[in-house]
Amino acid sequence: MSSQRRSIHGQWSSRLIFILAVTGSAVGLGNIWKFPYLVGEHGGGAFVLVYLACMLIVGLPLLVAEIVIGRRGRCAPAGTMERVATEEGGARHWKYVGWLSLLAAFLVLSVYSVIGGWSLAYVFRTAGGVFSGADSFQAVLVFQELIGDPEKVLAWHTLFMAVTMTLVGRGVREGLEEAIRWFMPLLLLLLIFLAVYAAGTGQTREALAFLFYPDFSRISGGVVLVAMGHAFFTLSLGVGAVMVYGAYLHRRVSVLPVAGVIVGLDVVIALLAGLVIFPLVFAHGTPADSGLGLVFETMPLTFAQMDSGVWFGTLFFLLVLFAAWTSAISLLEPLVAHVVEHTKLDRSLATSYVGAAIWALGVVSILSFNLWEHVRPLGNVSGFEQSTLFDLFSFLAINVLLPISGLLIAFFAGWRLSKASVRVELGGEYGWRVWHFTIRFITPLAVLLVLLHSIRLI
Ligand code: PHE
Ligand code: NA
Repeated sequence: MSSQRRSIHGQWSSRLIFILAVTGSAVGLGNIWKFPYLVGEHGGGAFVLVYLACMLIVGLPLLVAEIVIGRRGRCAPAGTMERVATEEGGARHWKYVGWLSLLAAFLVLSVYSVIGGWSLAYVFRTAGGVFSGADSFQAVLVFQELIGDPEKVLAWHTLFMAVTMTLVGRGVREGLEEAIRWFMPLLLLLLIFLAVYAAGTGQTREALAFLFYPDFSRISGGVVLVAMGHAFFTLSLGVGAVMVYGAYLHRRVSVLPVAGVIVGLDVVIALLAGLVIFPLVFAHGTPADSGLGLVFETMPLTFAQMDSGVWFGTLFFLLVLFAAWTSAISLLEPLVAHVVEHTKLDRSLATSYVGAAIWALGVVSILSFNLWEHVRPLGNVSGFEQSTLFDLFSFLAINVLLPISGLLIAFFAGWRLSKASVRVELGGEYGWRVWHFTIRFITPLAVLLVLLHSIRLI
């Protein structure tokens, strides 16, 4: 009986650990770095509202779908898709959807690990007092010097990957679970502590206005699609991370409430990150609209001007680092599980090979900030003239592969999975009906629009 099946890789020891694991995957650079500047750029509260709607119609249904499919198949994404599809009387070709997720995970991690390396560097830079008394020119310079020096970034990227590999190599219980048990409570404590501190600067009102004052004139079709794309990325969908975590979930847990909690936590943590960053930024008059430079340029500058900025700065970058690590392990796990299932390698060897390959690809991203800075592979393609290899990798992974695999997964869950098999898993008849309708009609359409927009067809 398929519901009795167990994963050969192990099983989470509790429902809470599963929630923390998926939340750890979801909470990452997307929450701390991307969400706050997207809100600032796209109309504050109006963007937040659109984003919440996207989380409900795209994020939540797909999260549920990935968990349900993963738990049913109990393998890495390719094996799971193949198994579940054939059990439903469908074609084995569905396994290629799993392959697509794996490819996306591979690419995303190679880029993610480089930025994880920057975060690691910044923990040490800040703790060492590099930013004390720095002005904005110096703060930017520190960043440029870091990313401009391939050897330095290589060292940090290597260290970041090595820790990720060590954790994954130790397995579901001893590695992933152990990391999650430490990192997640620390992450939440740090975030709350920093938010309380930031509230003490007296600039909370400005920050709240910035985050929540709705300016609907800035909402356009394009902005809606940005919000939808971000909902996708922030929940780690389409890379097999949630699917493989679902494969380790106990069969008696109802999926809908669990997924609801995860989405809620992801949203709350993104908003809290905004309430850490903006009060500090406003209190010190540093630029709030620095976009991508917000975390690595504006924040160090902000800490440079604070009493005890060394402490708070170090804690802030530790927060970024923990968030990045819990996401990185969820990107490596589906790949390692896949290799273990398809070869005779044991987990630690599989981890070494996969990790080394990702590490090597990461070097390309590193070089595109320095030695290969001027390489523009698509220099004559409109819209991509200025894109470096790093830009193209992240674009391909995040804006193309993720939505394609998400679209196919939504289609599979809505139209191929038999209703009876899913109904019992969600926990609640009404919830099941709403989910089923959404995943059949609304989610695929929404994801398709995001995809077409990404590749500039609409
Ligand atoms: N959800 C992570 C974030 O918000 C990014 C991520 C995507 C992590 C895919 C794992 C898998 O930063
Ligand atoms: Na996230």
